Amino acid sequence: MKESDSPENIPAAAGSGLAAEAVDAIEGLSGVHPGYRRAHAGGICCRAVFRPNGLAAAFTTAPHLQQQETAAVVRFSGSSTDPALADLLSPAKGMAVRFSLPGGGTTCLVGATLPVFFARTPESFVDIVRTAHKAREGNLGPLELIKEITAHFSESKESLLSLNRLKPPASYAESRYYCIHAYHFIDPEGIRRPVKFEWAPDAGVRTLPLSDARQQPDRYLEDELELRLKAEPAVFQLHVIFGEKDDPTDDPTTAWPGDRRRIEIGRLHLTEIIPEPAGLLMDPAAVSEGIALSDDPILQFRHTAYGESFRRRSTE
Ligand code: HEM
Repeated sequence: MKESDSPENIPAAAGSGLAAEAVDAIEGLSGVHPGYRRAHAGGICCRAVFRPNGLAAAFTTAPHLQQQETAAVVRFSGSSTDPALADLLSPAKGMAVRFSLPGGGTTCLVGATLPVFFARTPESFVDIVRTAHKAREGNLGPLELIKEITAHFSESKESLLSLNRLKPPASYAESRYYCIHAYHFIDPEGIRRPVKFEWAPDAGVRTLPLSDARQQPDRYLEDELELRLKAEPAVFQLHVIFGEKDDPTDDPTTAWPGDRRRIEIGRLHLTEIIPEPAGLLMDPAAVSEGIALSDDPILQFRHTAYGESFRRRSTE
């Protein structure tokens, strides 16, 4: 796919069904901001190159994970639905990577600074977002809001506790990003193995004390990244984690045990800030050959929900 082309498989007509309900529910949180993504509305893009180290080749035929380096676009974002919200006020951050595949086409990995998600199914996602909206209208503070949601949706507990523990990041390039869902690697013999992906910053993880973060300008993370990349590339290691028997592949609200086998399969070098490429849609369900989606209903649903958001924002 060329950068200027529209993503494939995106509904051209007005959306209906659960994906439209999900996007409507998200819009309910902070209103409609024409032309912006319905979630992770504010963000910044970088040019990057991914250099695989060859270690994944025994486990997957994915063309971008063999030996050859590939070009990539990275978009960092704040999780808010409001593009004007200050960096400090949207605690979770996102890192979305679109790889240009060596033989043509693209594939994406979309991560966030939380290790687990707050909803187990698309239906509960819609219910939780609607509940959050109602609770906010009742002027609940952040902690009361967490209590209110977890009282009704116990599946959200781990995610919302992690959210509450998040400290303001010092830099987009000094944060760890979890791609949350399970996928399957398919090796040259056709054997499938459940895996998850994480981006680990070479520079290490660094957060700011709240008192320092409060002194920062609204867009401090974008300013910092711009300065950093003028001096040197920012580097992330791509880690793959192998699931074992009985590790759930269909539940993004539950983390796998911490002792699972983990290998670094390559490094992503971010070199410069770029304007957002036209038609950029980071679809976590857009997998390449050698990688298959798991049975996680949220992962599969994101394809249609992101398509619905893309359709709305690109026709406004
Ligand atoms: C039911 C589940 C989910 C729904 C309905 C949802 C919805 C959305 C929507 C509508 C967008 C804007 C898409 C666009 O216009 O291009 C978005 C972006 C994003 N979401 Fe989700 N999301 C879900 C789950 C997740 C999960 C589990 C993660 C964490 C890994 C995540 C991380 C992100 C990130 C990082 C972006 C920004 C992508 C970019 O930079 O283009 N989302 N989400």
